Amino acid sequence: MRIFSCIQPTGRKHLGNYLGAIRGYVEGQDRGDAVYCIVDLHALTVGPDPAELRRSLYDTTAILLAAGLDPARCILFRQSDVREHTELCWVLATVASYGELSRMTQFKEKSAQHKQFVSSGLFFYPVLQAADILAYDTDEVPIGEDQKQHIELTREIAQRFNARFGETLVVPTHRIPPVGARIQDLQSPGKRMSTTASTEQGAVYILDAPGSVQRKFRTAVTDSGTEIVRGPDKAGITNLIEILSVVRGVDPAAIEREFAGLGYGAFKAAVGDAVVEYLAPVRERYEKLRADEAGLEATLADGAAKAHAIASRTLARVRAAMGIGAPG
Ligand code: AMP
Ligand code: TRP
Repeated sequence: MRIFSCIQPTGRKHLGNYLGAIRGYVEGQDRGDAVYCIVDLHALTVGPDPAELRRSLYDTTAILLAAGLDPARCILFRQSDVREHTELCWVLATVASYGELSRMTQFKEKSAQHKQFVSSGLFFYPVLQAADILAYDTDEVPIGEDQKQHIELTREIAQRFNARFGETLVVPTHRIPPVGARIQDLQSPGKRMSTTASTEQGAVYILDAPGSVQRKFRTAVTDSGTEIVRGPDKAGITNLIEILSVVRGVDPAAIEREFAGLGYGAFKAAVGDAVVEYLAPVRERYEKLRADEAGLEATLADGAAKAHAIASRTLARVRAAMGIGAPG
């Protein structure tokens, strides 16, 4: 079973990324043949500064390794190192419709955020994502809830390709965790925690200092009630219950029972402490890994060679099926 996912190198990675996705990448190493990619080509769609992009790529690589990705048990690589992604992207663009791409929520959101210049790369973004996934004969894609629509589009594209050119591509399924797939902003619990849309206080970053994490939880927005239970009108408390449930590895109902009768203040402090403890070993390992850029490059280069071996076989099949290139 092939497990495959990607993460963007832009911005700082937050608790939502960790609980919704990265945690699933780590588990994936025990369940199948795991391949993970850091998508610098996707990052280009919003015009990052080149030096900053390179730094962020190393930051993200070190975070993933610190979180528990083990190059001996998975393939970890940089998207732009494996040229097959861009070739497959073009080919798949010819079987994805303009209408489908126009309906993607991430495109609508991001184009609203970058009004002054909406690159056509931003519009193409989901096609490149489909290429990432389909190049590796992926069975399962661990992701947070916001990416579900892109995986559904990927399935659609793969099925259409197979119907037109014969069975060539594996149709993947998404794997979304039952709790933690949508961590909300601590200051605006009606919104998803996000690198671009959250304020500094609203997002907890994986590399935040412990004092800062505790402060963010202490000042988290809740409601005027007193009960520590999940509910539709209790977005803030529901979010905190879910965060603690994932970090402790217990059911959200167990958290509700444990904290019944306690005040919001004590509960928020307890969640802050638990998150600090959860992230501490990651932060510690990160410092050492990030300091060794040559080591990170070596890991990525090794990953790219292994990834290329898989993706080039898929591309040979795709070329043959579509009648492009010299006949094999
Ligand atoms: P990105 O940083 O946009 O590349 O996202 C990496 C992964 O984190 C994707 O699988 C997203 O679905 C997931 N993710 C992003 N934000 C959240 C969130 N607030 N809660 C849960 N998962 C998230
Ligand atoms: N769009 C994803 C995100 O914003 C990143 C991504 C690119 C991805 N290619 C992918 C995720 C392939 C899963 C599989 O998080």
